[in-house]
Amino acid sequence: MPSSDDHGLPGEAYTSGSVFDWERQKLWREGWVCVGRASLLPATGSQRAIDVGGAGVLLVNDSSGQPRAFLNSCRHRGHELVRSGCEVRRSTIWCAYHAWVYRLDGALRNAPGFDIDEADDLGLIPVRCADWGGWLFVNLSETAPDLQSTVGNLDEILAPYETSSLRTTAVRQYDVAANWKLIVENYLECYHCPSTHPELSRVQRTEGGEDFASTGLWLGGFLDLRNSALSMSLDGSGAAWDFPSLDEDRVRQVCYHALLPGLFVTAHHDYLVTHRLEPLGADRTRVTCEWLFPPELVSAGTDTTYALDFWDHTNAQDWAACESVQRGVSVPGYLPGPLAPDESGLRAFLRLLAEAYGSDMPLRVPTDVDEGARS
Ligand code: FES
Ligand SMILES: [Fe+2]
Repeated sequence: MPSSDDHGLPGEAYTSGSVFDWERQKLWREGWVCVGRASLLPATGSQRAIDVGGAGVLLVNDSSGQPRAFLNSCRHRGHELVRSGCEVRRSTIWCAYHAWVYRLDGALRNAPGFDIDEADDLGLIPVRCADWGGWLFVNLSETAPDLQSTVGNLDEILAPYETSSLRTTAVRQYDVAANWKLIVENYLECYHCPSTHPELSRVQRTEGGEDFASTGLWLGGFLDLRNSALSMSLDGSGAAWDFPSLDEDRVRQVCYHALLPGLFVTAHHDYLVTHRLEPLGADRTRVTCEWLFPPELVSAGTDTTYALDFWDHTNAQDWAACESVQRGVSVPGYLPGPLAPDESGLRAFLRLLAEAYGSDMPLRVPTDVDEGARS
């Protein structure tokens, strides 16, 4: 497996089905994966069937206020409890095949033809699930460290943005013909910004920022808004409003955070935009982008399209670049080149990957990360 952290990965890392299968098992099913906002489960009895690293998972709002997750397989003969990709709202979890019924906490309540007292061990198989900052995370490993230690100090860095209270004003889904790692790598450097993002480069400086010192499984850093720009938008306009708890410096910074393996949180003084990755194949990734605004601005009827237009445009540029890299690294004989000084975040990501590849283990919180990332 690849191991160098001074050069990019060999083409095989982005094209091989066996590398992809290993990553889906080790890095995605055994890592904490963001599956969306907590608003996915709006009410008691809300149930949603999703895919996490190729495994069917049922998310449930069980009335205790805590989200629950189970394998989306009936304990009788395996029928899906809710069809993959669908959502329902019911007071019980019900299998349509032979009508076994489970409580919202997963316990078996009724199985036609069975004495239910003898079926205590036939509850749904639980999956670890947690709400952090208004996002739902799932982990299919029983032994992985808890989400809090994975998040580390991202908690305090994002605290001023009060992420749990933010409202979604827009969602866009993109089907990108590129390996998921290329999308992470692209987010972790702004070396490409002057040539790939002329509009972004007009409102944000593309050099001169700093990396954050991370204590979790995340990489990040900030870059400054240009003096002429009020916010990240195509014409530099934006809301004349700052998150009240942001310190003076941060108000003029765009902060990039990649919580591995698959959630990017980009924070501005007036809104957040997130990218959530779902690897679909060695050369295919679904990216769901969400625009999050503070409730004050939403209630005031603020026009938030400046943020949507800017990032939708920037996304298109990034996906075109990532898809081109996917084609380029797929050329037989491709040799990876050296990383630039401004690709420190990418270098840190490749180090984490190399450790995971070498140990046959999921991505782990490093003990010595002092380099971060910029988009
Ligand atoms: S498979 Fe679910 S009740 Fe038979
Ligand atoms: Fe970019």
